[in-house]
Amino acid sequence: MKYKAYLIEQIDDQFIGSVKELDAPSVDDNHLLIRVNYSSLNYKDALASTGVKGVAKSYPFVPGIDVCGTVIESKDDRFAVGDNVVATGYKIGMAVHGGFGEVVHLPADWVLHLPSNLEMVDAMSIGTAGITAAACVKKIIDSGISDNLPVLVSGATGGVGSVAVHILSKIGYEVHAITGKLDEEATLIKMGASKVIQRSDYIKEPAKALDKGLYGGAVDTVGGDILAKMISMIANEGAISCCGNVGGMKFTSSVFPFILRGVSLIGVDSAESPLEFKKQLWDLLSSTWQLDLKSQTKEINLESVGQEVTKILQGKQVGRIVIKHGA
Ligand SMILES: NC(=O)c1ccc[n+]([C@@H]2O[C@H](COP(=O)([O-])OP(=O)(O)OC[C@H]3O[C@@H](n4cnc5c(N)ncnc54)[C@H](OP(=O)(O)O)[C@@H]3O)[C@@H](O)[C@H]2O)c1
Repeated sequence: MKYKAYLIEQIDDQFIGSVKELDAPSVDDNHLLIRVNYSSLNYKDALASTGVKGVAKSYPFVPGIDVCGTVIESKDDRFAVGDNVVATGYKIGMAVHGGFGEVVHLPADWVLHLPSNLEMVDAMSIGTAGITAAACVKKIIDSGISDNLPVLVSGATGGVGSVAVHILSKIGYEVHAITGKLDEEATLIKMGASKVIQRSDYIKEPAKALDKGLYGGAVDTVGGDILAKMISMIANEGAISCCGNVGGMKFTSSVFPFILRGVSLIGVDSAESPLEFKKQLWDLLSSTWQLDLKSQTKEINLESVGQEVTKILQGKQVGRIVIKHGA
């Protein structure tokens, strides 16, 4: 069986993406062949599409860490032909061809049934960015952050940040959003932020060893100086989820927030989270945390992936990009 995919090929030291026709593999034991209806674009996909080391295992390669579609062949008792399924992370789009192809061949252990009240397009508006945002929010809430203080979100217009703003405001937190995009204040307010802070203003002064504890918690998607400043501004027993590094992979902090305020810094790695934790997140996102992300989601076809990859790498993406196959 032939299928279409956005294939990245290495030609000398250049990585070039184009839509190609590939042959579907035969199905291994405990694996599924899935007809992909929708995928989504994440920062990691942009890295895999441009040959950044440490993301895709080898080339030629089909990126796409998110998959939503229908089982067309099953060699696992838990899934039958026709089941609607969702899969994010693990080695999808890194060592195994991903959702930028119309067909994927995945171990059944990486796959979940799609919650019945979630449309495929909505599941991919959520995608890895949304699952990561949900993991970040769940971890700080489970650690017992205050309901009475605002929660900070960095990289707020990005994929992870924008969904974190939505979830936190939906479940009743006052959200303060840090952004580098001067012109997106109204968008962030619409997403549920009650205050928008310009990134340059936020880091104008370097982080103090201990600053005013203004925030109950934070979701940090950027790292670097912003994370350092956040740590100094979290109130007693507050917590920060740390999941990204677009603003830098190193930061400097004093120990005071940790030893004088009991602040927790919680790491989030959604890709390798146990499947059971991912199921809990999908269950939340299809019930009490259900979001309407339509206004912040752009739907594209395979031919437009390249230009959106460029935008995400330049930090210019707002919200989520969903890829519709067969469009
Ligand atoms: N740990 C995990 O499990 C996991 C899962 C998914 C993603 N991630 C990571 O999380 C991060 C965000 O991913 P994403 O998909 O949301 O990416 P994205 O859509 O590109 O969003 C990143 C946002 O960060 C802000 N930003 C860009 N450049 C910046 C800079 N130099 N300094 C500070 N902020 C900057 C921008 O938002 P504003 O203009 O609004 O500030 C941008 O929209 C990435 O590092 C990604 O690898 C981690």
